[in-house]
Amino acid sequence: MLFQNREGSIPASWAWKKIMRFAIITVAVIGFAALLWPSSPPRYNAMHAYSNVTISSNVECDLDVEMLHRLDVRKLVAYTRREMVLDFTADPLPIRQGIKQPLLDTKWKPSASEPEPGQSLDGCTVRTPMQVQVVQPPKMAVAPHIDFGVATSIGRLNDSLDQFAHWAGYTRTRIFALIEPDETKEGVAYVRAKAENLGINLLITESEDDYLHRYFALIPLLEEHTREQTQWACIIDDDTFFPSMSALVDALAKYDHTKPMYIGGLSEGTPQIAVFGIIAFGGAGVFLSRPLLSDLATVYDECEQMTYTGDRRIANCIYQYTTTRMTIDHRLHQLDLMKDASGFFESGRELPLSVHHWKSWFNADMPKLSVISELCGDTCLLRQWQFSDGYLLTNGFSVVKYGFPPESGDLSMEMTWEPHNGANQESYLHELGPLRRKDEMKESYLLQDAKVEGNGHVTQWYVKRDSILGDEVLELSWRKR
Ligand SMILES: *[C@@H]1O[C@H](CO)[C@@H](O)[C@H](O)[C@H]1NC(C)=O
Ligand SMILES: *[C@@H]1O[C@H](CO)[C@@H](O)[C@H](O)[C@H]1NC(C)=O
Repeated sequence: MLFQNREGSIPASWAWKKIMRFAIITVAVIGFAALLWPSSPPRYNAMHAYSNVTISSNVECDLDVEMLHRLDVRKLVAYTRREMVLDFTADPLPIRQGIKQPLLDTKWKPSASEPEPGQSLDGCTVRTPMQVQVVQPPKMAVAPHIDFGVATSIGRLNDSLDQFAHWAGYTRTRIFALIEPDETKEGVAYVRAKAENLGINLLITESEDDYLHRYFALIPLLEEHTREQTQWACIIDDDTFFPSMSALVDALAKYDHTKPMYIGGLSEGTPQIAVFGIIAFGGAGVFLSRPLLSDLATVYDECEQMTYTGDRRIANCIYQYTTTRMTIDHRLHQLDLMKDASGFFESGRELPLSVHHWKSWFNADMPKLSVISELCGDTCLLRQWQFSDGYLLTNGFSVVKYGFPPESGDLSMEMTWEPHNGANQESYLHELGPLRRKDEMKESYLLQDAKVEGNGHVTQWYVKRDSILGDEVLELSWRKR
């Protein structure tokens, strides 16, 4: 109170004097500057402003301002376009391939005798397309033997359809959604229709239970709906994402579905395991073979009384009432990584079977990352090319240049995330090792958008952010050879 009174008690005439003095000085400064200003400022300093986007005059091509808005670019200092041509092969390829050509060096030419490729006339496009090899995509996955269960709300389910479409669309798998009652009723009808359009077999059940009870109630729901071909039931979170359904089907085929099996992933951080236990962490997907599902349905009422809820209740129910133990599949990922998970996605390791937390703990837009699979299948996702100018493309995720490049053949993962819950580097070794320190000098263009174009092209936009100097955009336009 006292403080406020003192502030408020400054006399009005004093404030006016201050404003007048400021105005006079400002006028004088502007006048002086106008006298000294060069009559024509150097061209490279000029910035064009289109609506509220500022474009540096270094950018010599015409750009769609709407597109820049979509990429959330306010100030643009460089724009490079390059055509990427996919060359399919039946032979196996390493996930990371070296290419003896630069990705971004526009002056480069294949040999002295050939004409200078330089930049094309529009000033942004690298004239020579870049040809890269990818493996022949696998056949469309068929998965009527796996049923998925998710406890969520109608709004979140609606938001999840695009990501479900990537892995569940047209695979004949079924997704059972247990949602809180939808008051409007129109929501359910809308979501059902949209799922059908995307080729997703979505079965929605409404329930009065709260979230954690609904989660456990997925067990009897899935058990009730088993059909002859059902081998596996999988409980997921609404942000569990499977990059490749065919990889998942192949991975499950290695386990014996006729025995009671409880398959999942642990947290990547040991402090999380210390809190929650040796359980299949829900975000990675909890896989139950049909015999185990039947066992659990017989002890459902007992387990409903158990203290803990959610994925922990499933684990405790299995451990207390059966002799089945967890089988860890290290490709199923809860992804308990805070803020920046780029080290995980840029590691050049085998494609993960599941990922999670990609729109909460960190940001990596999985549906957009997956757009490129429309052209070259799931085997194309996160595939890497190391170019001679130091740039490393991780397809769908990023284009980076390390300040401290790892030696070739180094499969360590850069620890880019923030340790969580008292973790240190050692806490992550059991799932993610070998690890190396975060590269503070890494230059990163991150995927911001991707689109299937009408002409058999997929376009990806990668953006390098700099809030002071301005952003640089790299547009890759992919087609088959
Ligand atoms: C920039 O303009 C677009 C449309 O012209 C608008 O949607 C957007 O909100 C504007 N952004 C800012 C920061 O003013
Ligand atoms: C579902 O999302 C769309 C936009 O993608 C929105 O127009 C629609 O109102 C949403 N419906 C519900 C039920 O949330």
